[in-house]
Amino acid sequence: MRPRSSRCGPTAVIPATRHREGVINPTRIGIIGVGRMGRAHLAACADSDSVRFTALADSSDRVRQELADEGYLWFENADELIAAHVVDAVIIATPTPTHQALSAKALSAGLPVLCEKPCGPTAAGLRGLGVAARTSGSPLRVGYWRRFVPELTELHDEIRRGQLGTLLSLETGQWDEQPPSAGYQQLCGTIFADMAVHDLDQIQWLAGEQITSVRAVVRTGEPDQPPAAGLLVLALDSGLISAASFGRWFPGGDACWLRVHGTAGYRELRFLWPPGSEQQMCAAVRSQDEAFAALVQGNPDPRLATAADAEAALAAAEAATAAAAESGTAVWPEPPSAVRAAPNHTHVDRRPLGAAL
Ligand SMILES: NC(=O)c1ccc[n+]([C@@H]2O[C@H](COP(=O)([O-])OP(=O)(O)OC[C@H]3O[C@@H](n4cnc5c(N)ncnc54)[C@H](O)[C@@H]3O)[C@@H](O)[C@H]2O)c1
Repeated sequence: MRPRSSRCGPTAVIPATRHREGVINPTRIGIIGVGRMGRAHLAACADSDSVRFTALADSSDRVRQELADEGYLWFENADELIAAHVVDAVIIATPTPTHQALSAKALSAGLPVLCEKPCGPTAAGLRGLGVAARTSGSPLRVGYWRRFVPELTELHDEIRRGQLGTLLSLETGQWDEQPPSAGYQQLCGTIFADMAVHDLDQIQWLAGEQITSVRAVVRTGEPDQPPAAGLLVLALDSGLISAASFGRWFPGGDACWLRVHGTAGYRELRFLWPPGSEQQMCAAVRSQDEAFAALVQGNPDPRLATAADAEAALAAAEAATAAAAESGTAVWPEPPSAVRAAPNHTHVDRRPLGAAL
């Protein structure tokens, strides 16, 4: 899902006078990395009563100049923002390779962190970061905003109440309107770690189980070009089977859908669909950020993805990357050496699907 913040609404910070007596004090949040996703957070919470983005940091002169007149306190880098003690928490929306080091810095300074997905670059690093968060005493959550799409929240609760009976099969689809830049794709990981990771989190969250087995293929493009689409076939702890279809082209707007079969029920959702997908994403990002603000104020929302949740999603994405490469399908960019050397980690193995079932 590619945020296009201009369609989400205005990005200006809310004037202090907007907050009436009796209205909850907004949580002051800083954003580190104010590119597409950072601006999606700004736009989504522009009129929130509980979230106030007060301070921003971005290493790009161009980005700082573009938003120079919007009334934010600006910093040239994360260290300066963290050291300034002007915010209650931070959102990290820098490129994936920087997520873990920046999150660790903020946590060690006592700041709660909401890091963008996948909180990469590696599942092993994320496990260490989770330990660091627990040691610091500050919460770390990861930006899997689909958990705040109302239809998915409702489906999650229906499944927990047993209304669908025993789950048999869960299928997801995620198709972006168009690919991000090649530079972004080179930096932010394979199509599994950057894109399918949304589905991998969603599947494990909805089912309340972990993925145990992954088969993966990608649709290759031109030589040296990133894959344009992929398919995953998954097995989970209970034997539940799942499939994810995802790709970089869906003319008209981003789209996400889901089908779930249980012994007592069936649900089919198009929970993100053009022409309203931008607004649907904005609403979910806003709910997520407001839940993070509530967590900072001491009121946790169990929908917020934890470091362990994100580690499980990223570990499955790494297994998918390794499985696709092993099956002879080109993966681009080259997976990190840790993934190539040790694909059988965490709760995911790469036995043939039949063996896992
Ligand atoms: N949750 C979602 O649906 C979603 C969607 C898109 C992107 N993302 C995630 O958000 C992250 C950023 O993606 P994007 O598309 O916004 O990228 P982007 O390139 O548009 O923005 C990144 C910004 O971070 C800045 N930056 C880079 N290194 C920095 C540093 N060390 N300190 C401060 N600023 C720094 C860059 O100048 C840039 O402005 C990625 O990890 C991506 O996976 C999440």
